[in-house]
Amino acid sequence: MPSLSSSSRFKLDLAGRPRRLRRNAAVRVLVEETVLRPADFIAPLFVVEGRGAPEPVGSMPGVARFNVADLVRECRALWKLGVPAVALFPKIDAGLKDPRGSVALDGDALIVRAVRAVKKALPGMVVMTDIALDPYTSHGHDGLLSDDGREVLNDATVEVLMKMAVLHARAGVDFVAPSDMMDGRVAAIRSALDAAGCEQTAIMAYSSKFASAYYGPFREAVGSAKAAGAPALDKRTYQLNPANRREAIAEAIIDEGEGADVLMVKPAGPYLDIIRDVREVTRKPLAAYQVSGEYAQIHAAARLGWLDLEKTRMESLLAIKRAGADMILTYFAKSVAGELRSFSSGGRGNSK
Ligand code: PBG
Repeated sequence: MPSLSSSSRFKLDLAGRPRRLRRNAAVRVLVEETVLRPADFIAPLFVVEGRGAPEPVGSMPGVARFNVADLVRECRALWKLGVPAVALFPKIDAGLKDPRGSVALDGDALIVRAVRAVKKALPGMVVMTDIALDPYTSHGHDGLLSDDGREVLNDATVEVLMKMAVLHARAGVDFVAPSDMMDGRVAAIRSALDAAGCEQTAIMAYSSKFASAYYGPFREAVGSAKAAGAPALDKRTYQLNPANRREAIAEAIIDEGEGADVLMVKPAGPYLDIIRDVREVTRKPLAAYQVSGEYAQIHAAARLGWLDLEKTRMESLLAIKRAGADMILTYFAKSVAGELRSFSSGGRGNSK
């Protein structure tokens, strides 16, 4: 019978042995190519009216809607952890919504008060807001509808977005982030901001934003989901077809040409190829949005004991940065920033 045990004398004659660089944690950290840091993150935060306790979002464990005072507290905690930026999203009371999203232009709107409060407490923190009508419209679309309700109007929507951007800029936001995917909105918003004397307000364009099923939990969080039983909101006349790579690159190039300061790919994890593609066609900074559904699926699997939460979330973010994102919008910002801080005090980088 031939022996199956390994012979200690057998040696392969190899030109190289890549495993030499993986032998221990110290070697691994020396050759580590991508490093996450708290400063890579933009934390999306939800804000509600009133003075109530934080309202947990069912499909996003660990995420809650904050009243303005608690929002400021949360921003302070993020700032202390080294997270430099937040993106604020309002949940508007259903009674205030109408088909035209009129509340979006209210000078004393919830989001305006939230921005002012955060900037007052933390003037150095970067504050961003979405420029789109979906939190405000009763139908949940990002734009105005035609009279017969069958079409999401482009130019009429952009006209509202220009005013909304100026309102947010005057409240103190550092970046406005048009997230609606209407044509021509970046150039229109840029010229409206400049005309209003807000030339320092930057634009982060949701430039390659796909019509994705991964936005489901977010729509619950801001209350823009349709009532149970109604057909899911169909945004395919403005958001990108998930099948289309060339079109996604073309959209990024258009937004760069219109004057966007930062471009974005959204969602992130299922679209790493697009992040890489856009990275290669532009010298602009690139953001990627790890959306609510990406967050929810990691938590769901972790709850079932099927995935390790800490390791999976870190790997998901590392992959997005490795693909070419300079900054990542992620609901994991606080937890991962905390984890990275404790790593760095132990000097171990990403290689545990
Ligand atoms: C609104 C907007 C959406 C998200 C960010 N801004 C939802 C949508 O377009 O339907 C999704 C974010 C997430 O899922 O985390 N235009």
